[in-house]
Amino acid sequence: MRKGKSMRPYAMGGLALLLVIGLSPGPLVARMQTPPAAPAAAAAEATPTMSCGDCHDQAKAFGTNPHARGKATKGQVVPNAICESCHGSGTAHMEAGGDKTLIYKPIGVVGANKTCLTCHDINTDRIARQSGQHANSSAVNCLTCHAIHSAEPRSAHLLVRSELALCSTCHATQVASFRNKPFAHRLGRGGMECSSCHEPHGRPQKPENLRLTSANEVPCVGCHSDKRGPFVFNHGGVAQGECTTCHDPHGSSNARFLRRSNVMQVCIECHSPITGNTLGSQPPSFHNLTTARYQNCTSCHMAIHGSNRDPQLMK
Ligand code: HEC
Ligand code: HEC
Ligand code: HEC
Ligand code: HEC
Ligand code: HEC
Ligand code: HEC
Ligand code: HEC
Ligand code: HEC
Ligand code: HEC
Ligand code: HEC
Repeated sequence: MRKGKSMRPYAMGGLALLLVIGLSPGPLVARMQTPPAAPAAAAAEATPTMSCGDCHDQAKAFGTNPHARGKATKGQVVPNAICESCHGSGTAHMEAGGDKTLIYKPIGVVGANKTCLTCHDINTDRIARQSGQHANSSAVNCLTCHAIHSAEPRSAHLLVRSELALCSTCHATQVASFRNKPFAHRLGRGGMECSSCHEPHGRPQKPENLRLTSANEVPCVGCHSDKRGPFVFNHGGVAQGECTTCHDPHGSSNARFLRRSNVMQVCIECHSPITGNTLGSQPPSFHNLTTARYQNCTSCHMAIHGSNRDPQLMK
């Protein structure tokens, strides 16, 4: 069983980011400077007499921030240039003894677009953050979910709070479903999160922001790879409706997260014993559906997700 994360092309994104920063720190910093910064400041910047850390606790904590990775020596004060990669030149601000009108602070959707996307907008599907349902807007943007200086200590990726609590602020219904339904994936315990199935950064033109596998399949088969197929005898139902025709991804009152309270009800939606006019074939007449023996369809049709041996999915 693989974790959802292993499906992602991490290395490429990371490398590209490092290249952007490693090869062109000059233009990058320059672009992020705010209008109040004096052009002459650049020369003074080379030998700063003051450190941001002289006045700001943020600097002490920043040694462990991913934005200082590889650029800050352990035990030493974080170089001002790191702070300035988001805040623009701080020279004027420092010379004025900390005049807060002379330094840029990224806030809201404007800050997210202007600052974060300078480095993080890489044109891969995985991090295309300008489209999709979570694309930067005043309601949802980088800074509603990530906090550079005040991330929840126990959550990875500089998240404002633990992922479940974060998603819950806007999608309480779905979070509650996982908590309240007797049968559901267990989230927030280190293995699985909402983001195992959903791409929190949104996906262009795709509903539900699903995190598809590299082969464009539903996220489920990334972990439940034994259900992936193709099988010699595919089950039409699985091929047609993917997984959520029969399973509720957010949990269910029924075992195996089934959408119906017993297996037979799931099946006869497509295999009606009364009419042949449904998606699947009619169960043969020897199936006496009034008896308990035949109601438990999967006791005989065990390979319900597809079989390599039996067209009737019995093994
Ligand atoms: C001489 C002390 C001093 C130094 C050095 C200093 N600051 Fe400040 N900074 C201040 C003071 C004072 C404030 C205003 C705090 C307040 O009003 O809450 C401030 C405010 C800020 C703010 C908030 C602005 C806002 O709109 O709220 C940012 C961001 C900031 N500083 C970044 C930096 C960075 C980056 C550096 C290093 C390049 C730096 N500061 C160096 C004293 C300093
Ligand atoms: C990756 C971008 C980034 C870097 C690098 C960064 N900051 Fe910030 N900083 C922000 C953002 C975004 C905010 C506003 C939101 C917040 O408070 O988290 C902020 C806010 C601040 C504030 C104002 C805090 C307040 O409560 O309003 C200060 C002061 C500050 N930063 C100082 C620093 C110092 C000093 C450094 C370097 C050690 C630094 N920042 C590096 C993005 C950054
Ligand atoms: C100057 C370029 C730059 C800017 C601007 C920038 N970042 Fe980053 N950010 C990086 C790099 C490089 C990394 C990767 C660090 C690593 O993995 O070693 C990173 C990592 C991250 C991470 C991943 C943390 C983790 O542990 O996985 C988050 C989240 C993040 N940035 C959010 C933001 C946000 C939000 C903003 C806007 C306030 C922002 N960044 C602005 C360069 C930048
Ligand atoms: C709806 C909340 C949300 C928004 C909005 C959001 N993020 Fe994230 N971000 C997350 C979560 C949750 C994770 C951890 C799970 C994952 O990696 O998918 C994450 C992970 C990351 C990472 C580290 C993993 C990676 O993709 O390499 C970076 C970098 C990042 N976000 C940057 C950003 C930037 C930049 C923005 C704004 C354009 C942004 N995020 C907007 C929730 C969000
Ligand atoms: C096991 C995979 C999986 C997990 C984990 C998961 N989702 Fe979903 N989610 C889906 C699928 C698949 C859909 C598509 C709906 C369908 O086909 O019924 C969906 C749909 C949604 C929708 C659209 C509205 C709806 O309810 O259908 C929202 C919002 C949503 N999920 C939020 C969340 C949040 C928040 C979490 C974490 C608490 C979460 N999801 C965890 C798979 C998952
Ligand atoms: C600040 C609020 C906010 C946060 C936090 C947030 N979302 Fe959303 N999300 C939205 C908005 C707004 C939409 C657009 C559709 C809507 O109105 O429901 C959306 C859409 C979605 C959709 C698509 C729903 C559909 O009907 O197709 C999914 C899935 C989703 N979010 C999952 C998540 C997950 C997972 C997290 C946590 C990592 C999260 N969201 C955090 C506000 C938020
Ligand atoms: C990140 C990996 C992962 C993803 C993605 C995932 N699952 Fe699961 N699934 C698990 C694990 C682990 C278990 C067993 C532990 C548990 O209950 O959380 C499980 C249990 C199940 C079960 C119940 C098994 C039982 O014996 O009761 C069903 C049904 C299921 N998953 C269906 C799905 C569907 C449908 C999707 C896609 C919407 C999906 N899973 C996505 C990891 C995953
Ligand atoms: C046609 C309906 C249907 C579809 C579609 C379907 N399943 Fe199932 N699934 C079932 C039934 C019924 C059971 C319970 C079998 C039993 O009674 O033992 C089940 C059981 C499971 C189980 C737990 C038992 C086991 O075999 O591991 C997992 C995990 C699972 N399904 C995952 C998936 C995934 C992933 C998909 C999508 C690729 C999927 N299912 C599509 C009907 C379906
Ligand atoms: C979403 C609709 C759907 C659901 C739900 C569904 N099936 Fe099917 N099933 C099909 C389709 C379509 C075929 C292919 C029928 C064909 O080729 O004529 C099929 C084929 C089969 C076959 C192979 C025999 C044949 O006619 O090809 C068996 C056995 C079967 N299903 C049993 C079940 C059982 C048992 C369940 C409940 C656990 C179930 N199905 C749920 C749609 C469904
Ligand atoms: C006691 C075992 C058993 C149970 C329980 C059972 N079946 Fe079957 N089913 C069979 C056998 C055996 C065949 C193959 C008949 C043949 O080869 O002609 C079959 C064939 C089928 C077919 C294929 C019809 C075709 O046209 O090829 C469908 C559809 C089907 N069953 C659906 C169901 C459904 C739905 C249930 C639950 C309500 C169910 N079965 C329960 C033994 C069972």
